[in-house]
Amino acid sequence: MKPHLKPLVKQLLRSRKVGLPGAAPADSLHAPSRPYPNGWFCLAFASEVRRGSVTTRPLAGAEVVLYRTAGGVLRAVRPQCPHLGAHLGVGGSVEGEEIVCPFHRFAFDPSGACVRTGYDLPPPKASLTQYPVCEVNGSVYVWWHALGLPPQWQVPVIPMDERQPFSHDTFALAGHPQDVIENAFDWGHLPALHGLKGLDIEGAPVAGQPVSTVTATARGTVMRGFRQSYTLTVIGLASIAARTVLPRGAGSLHVMLHATATGPGRIELRFGTKLELTGVPGLPRRAGRATAMPVARLLSAVLQRVASVDTGADLLMWHHQEHVEQPKLARGDGPIGRYRQWARQFYTEPPGGVVAPRPPRTEVGRAEE
Ligand code: FES
Ligand SMILES: [Fe+2]
Repeated sequence: MKPHLKPLVKQLLRSRKVGLPGAAPADSLHAPSRPYPNGWFCLAFASEVRRGSVTTRPLAGAEVVLYRTAGGVLRAVRPQCPHLGAHLGVGGSVEGEEIVCPFHRFAFDPSGACVRTGYDLPPPKASLTQYPVCEVNGSVYVWWHALGLPPQWQVPVIPMDERQPFSHDTFALAGHPQDVIENAFDWGHLPALHGLKGLDIEGAPVAGQPVSTVTATARGTVMRGFRQSYTLTVIGLASIAARTVLPRGAGSLHVMLHATATGPGRIELRFGTKLELTGVPGLPRRAGRATAMPVARLLSAVLQRVASVDTGADLLMWHHQEHVEQPKLARGDGPIGRYRQWARQFYTEPPGGVVAPRPPRTEVGRAEE
């Protein structure tokens, strides 16, 4: 990264709220006009939704309550209790396999049905509104569709050890998921913004497929100095999963970038790093295998901090970027035109549909976790 950007990025990563003097966030200057894309959106890393926990997350101008029962069943529901509308994320609790509303203690089973009230009398016929949810690649995804249609495709499974959690961070900022995912096809910015060297990259989105792949080799990112091969899996307009296979069968490095539409012109950006090791250099094979996971967890936290600097530079761009519908593309840009064609499949309304603008915001903030 160019040295003059580093202090800005570091300040942004250090603080929970960062003012960027002289430059306002994009959504306060340009009324956000693009609709939310359809698809799976990551609302949490899997380790954030523990058994017995109830968590509220924004999604597409509304809220979703995520909870996990004592038995491990994960559910995503509309927050409003069908009884008198209390918010299940505000004081709601998990009791065994049920989620219980704090207001009158109505309890709902994993099918969403009301099975009990706080009055020791038969419950009414009532159900929670549930959203399709899946847990893949260490991430919790919720399906969103403009017309409320059920899932049209599945999140691809990227081979990884699910027992090991991601080290992760979440930021709330101005932006649109399409511009974040465009990063995978905007090859010109890799040397220019991130300082990648010796870049060799190929891949293009395939029309009609919700998932596409880009492969690259380069020097200069997380493992500075080393030439790395990456496989990027682009999942809808929501995630870029980067996987690097380490030399000599030592393991893999996973970097996940999730963009989630939270409101008009606003996104939450989740990114995480997970190192998987098959052993520990210098230790006999058996001892190495036994200690590989704790060592990998520690290193993941360090690598996440290093990777954050690169992601932080993108974050600054997105927070202030105005979407250019007719970009002036140049040779060396990467397949941005093809990407934009491909991206159209995720919209029910054509891009440019109406989304009500919301009041201006002035800061990048680390989202509540
Ligand atoms: S509002 Fe939820 S139990 Fe009454
Ligand atoms: Fe980038």
